[in-house]
Order: sequence, then structure tokens, then C-alpha cells
Amino acid sequence: MSFSVDDKTRSSSNFFGVRRDPDNCLLIIYGGSGDLAKRKLFPSLSNLQLKKQMPKRYKIIAVGRKDVQADELLSMGKYSDGFRKNFLYVQTDYDPAGVAKLKAICEQVCAEEGIEPNYLHYMAIPPKGYSDLARAISQGGLIHPPKNRNWSRLVVEKPYGRDLASAIELDESLLAGFAEKQIYRIDHYLGKETVQNLLVFRFANSVFEPIWNHHYIEHVQISGSEMLGVEERADYFDKSGSLRDMVQNHLMQILCMVTMEPPVNLSAESIRDEKVKVLRAMRPLDLAAQPPVAVRGQYGPGIVKGVAVPGYREEKGTAPETSTDTFVALRLHIDNLRWAGVPFYLRSGKRMGRKGTEVVVTFKKLPHVLFNARDHEAEPNRIVFKIQPQEAILLELTSKNPGQSFELTDTSMNFCYSDLFDTTADGYERLLLDSVLGDPTLFVRSDETELSWAFLDPLLKHWAVTPAGKAFPNYAAGEDHPAVADEVLLPGAQWLEFSKWDNVCP
Ligand code: BG6
Repeated sequence: MSFSVDDKTRSSSNFFGVRRDPDNCLLIIYGGSGDLAKRKLFPSLSNLQLKKQMPKRYKIIAVGRKDVQADELLSMGKYSDGFRKNFLYVQTDYDPAGVAKLKAICEQVCAEEGIEPNYLHYMAIPPKGYSDLARAISQGGLIHPPKNRNWSRLVVEKPYGRDLASAIELDESLLAGFAEKQIYRIDHYLGKETVQNLLVFRFANSVFEPIWNHHYIEHVQISGSEMLGVEERADYFDKSGSLRDMVQNHLMQILCMVTMEPPVNLSAESIRDEKVKVLRAMRPLDLAAQPPVAVRGQYGPGIVKGVAVPGYREEKGTAPETSTDTFVALRLHIDNLRWAGVPFYLRSGKRMGRKGTEVVVTFKKLPHVLFNARDHEAEPNRIVFKIQPQEAILLELTSKNPGQSFELTDTSMNFCYSDLFDTTADGYERLLLDSVLGDPTLFVRSDETELSWAFLDPLLKHWAVTPAGKAFPNYAAGEDHPAVADEVLLPGAQWLEFSKWDNVCP
């Protein structure tokens, strides 16, 4: 099959709305000497500068406690000249005195460079500091009221709380200083092209929308496998676990994109309203159900890519006998007209045998098989969305094997992004630009976060009081599919072998 891109495609257009030129502004990055800033934010901003998508005049003010020079901070990365020219580092504490110092610097920079005082505050700091820093920023006069001619926005990284109560508390403390429309909660999965394309695939193709419901869809699987272990992040991850780290945010966002109703228009609020409706329709987890609605796992020692790696309990920084989940599998239901009776299976794990995020929609089989299927039990039709690292959409079909008889065979129509497009932008690039442009569509609203925590809260509480003890570890590092995941399956269901789609694209 061949595909082509319409010549009229405008690379600079935002398919959710009309792009305008970004306002001149200051991007103030707290945690500016930290890992996230160096790994994700600076490279993304440098790329945006190269693509000429940054405002005509802007400055990046990296703020940190470390005593370093800007040059030193940028010495390890390959950054564009334009980015370097617009970069400065300010060493200060995140307290009122530090914010007062920062305010004076911001005003001076704006005056010297002829930049309107529009402020994008990006909190790339550990979450325990969010509330105090947000308070210091708002009380220190570094924000403008929402109706001011200049804008100020606050970008907040995940984790956004660790349960419902802490998410509400965080919301309350941020909303004391900022209006909801000034708060941009990042979920970097929403910045991925393949995740955004779920909406276009569903709502711009007349062949799929009519069958996107319980009449035709048998079940859906959403899977996020990583080969990485806990790396240097045990301090955070051991108090978090996969359910909080991956499911509450990334996988639930994907689920919403796959299942939401068409929004009335493409405004940020319309799209987010529809996601919220899905979250409201989620059937509460019945922790007594059989088969169980959720299971957890933790990796033991094993081999990943030919290298022997330690088990989670042996990793630096994890608590002895820790019950933290490095793998989870869930069975969910959305109780609305579209999805009644359709099970959704979600799973996510660290230290698996492969990296891949996929959504597989399995369609119901036809009630009657006309062809002689004696030698071939035809597979149901499936649509596979390969979110990453390969980016593709596959449609699995049954076809005729050439020959005298009507022998059946499984075939697939594959659309690989790499066949058509040079690159797909990193999630952070897209989200940083959107926050500068003031487009909150791909950011998470407070009610979305709270509903998602509310849904998972009973399970988190249950696991907190039932340590796994000797049941962990229950899979070996490097396994593709921990057996415990099978426990959530309804009779007749099975997890798909996602690795069979790994080499579909060049
Ligand atoms: C982050 C999690 O949000 O997402 C990490 O905190 C995880 O634990 C990462 O590794 C996965 O992101 P991606 O884009 O590599 O799938």
C-alpha cells in the first residue's frame, strides 16, 4: 500500500485550532539545573528555536539552587546558537526572598530586551516543593491576574499528587494563587503525535466511527512496557509504583482518547469535557470481583537485552521487602451506551523484555463463517495503534490465500509514520510550545486528575494495607509477559503477544 501527504498540509498549523505567533515572554524554569531540564526541556526549546517557532523575543531563565554558570550547565548538550543566546541561569532559593530576587531580574531582563512581562513558570522541581513555590511566585508578584493584558502561566509536572486527597490538596494550594486556566498540568503522553492521532483517526475517518462501539468491538487492550528499571529514581518510584507512575496519568489519558465521545468542537474545554465524561462513567473497581480487576507484580533478577540485572528489591534506594508495584494489570469497564459490556485491559511494567506502548482494538467475529475454516481459525479483525517507539497503525484482516480453494490467511495493512514523515516531534516540544501559545488542550484539567485518582484510590488503599511479602518478586526482569497478568482476564480472553508487531515498520 502506498500513502501520500496532502500538499496542503501546513507543518506549522495546529490541528486543534489556529496557530498564532507566540507572544514575547520569559520562560522561567525552576529546577533549571536538574535532570528533567537538561534531558527534556532544554533540548526541546533548542529545537523549537531551530524551527523558528519560539517568540521573536524571549529569554529562558533557568532557576536553581546549584552554584553553576550557564555555560557549564549547557556544556554537555548540543544546543542551537539561538537557544544559547537566549539562556541565562539564576541561582536562588525557592522561597520569598529568592522569588523577590528573581522578580527584580525578570523586570530588568524585560526592560533591557524589550520583552513584554509575560511569564511562563515551569516547575521542574520535586513535587513536595510545588505548593510552597507556587505560593512564593504568586505572593511575590510574579503572576498577573487572569484578565491582565500580560499573561502568566504555571506548568506543573507529574506526579500530580499521590492519591485523591493529596491531588485535591495540591489543587487547592495552586488555585489559591493561580486561576485554573493559568495552570498547565503536563502529561507528556498527550504531546505524542501518535496519541493525538487517535482523535483524528476516530473522528476524521468515516469508516471507523460507526463501528467504534460495543456492537462491533469485543475488547480493547492498552499496554505500556518498558525495559528500563527504576534507574536512579528509587527515591521517587519506591513511594509511587507503576499504578501511580504510569496508569493514573498516561494510560488513563490514552484510554480517554480511545473512548471519548466526539467533542462538539475542538476547543480545549470541549475536548477535556469529553474526557471527563469517560472518567465519570468508569465503573468503580470492585475489589472483591472474580476474576480480580487488578493485579500487581514486581521484578526479580533477570536478563534484559542479554545483560544480567538485579531484582527491584536489590536496586539502590528501594526499601527492603518493598511491596512497590513495578507491573500492574487491570480490567476496566466504562458504563455508558457506547461501551457497555466491553472489557478494557490495561497493563504497564518496568524491566520487561521489550519497550512498546500499544493500543489494540479487537473486533467481534462475524456470527457465521462462510468459508471453510477447518485449517485456519481466522483471527478477529484488529486495529493496532503503535504509539511508540515504532509509530504505526495496523489493520489486521482475513484474506484469501491464492489458490483453488477458499483458504483463509491473516493479513495486515500497515501505515508506518516513518514511511511518510521525517520525524515526529518529541512530546515535550509540542507541549512547551502549546504552553507558550496558551493552548491548554493537551494539558490535564483539575477534574480529570481528580477523577482519575478517585477511580484508583480504593485500589491504592487496598494495596497499601496488604503488603505483597513473599509473593514478590513474581516476574523475572526481561519477561515480556508476567503470568500474574492473566488473572484479570475474563473467561475466553487472553493477552495479545504485542511483540509480534515489533518489526512491522522499517
Ligand atoms: C514517566 C514515568 O512519566 O514516563 C517514568 O515517570 C516512565 O517512570 C516514563 O519511564 C515513560 O515515558 P516514555 O515517553 O518513555 O514512555
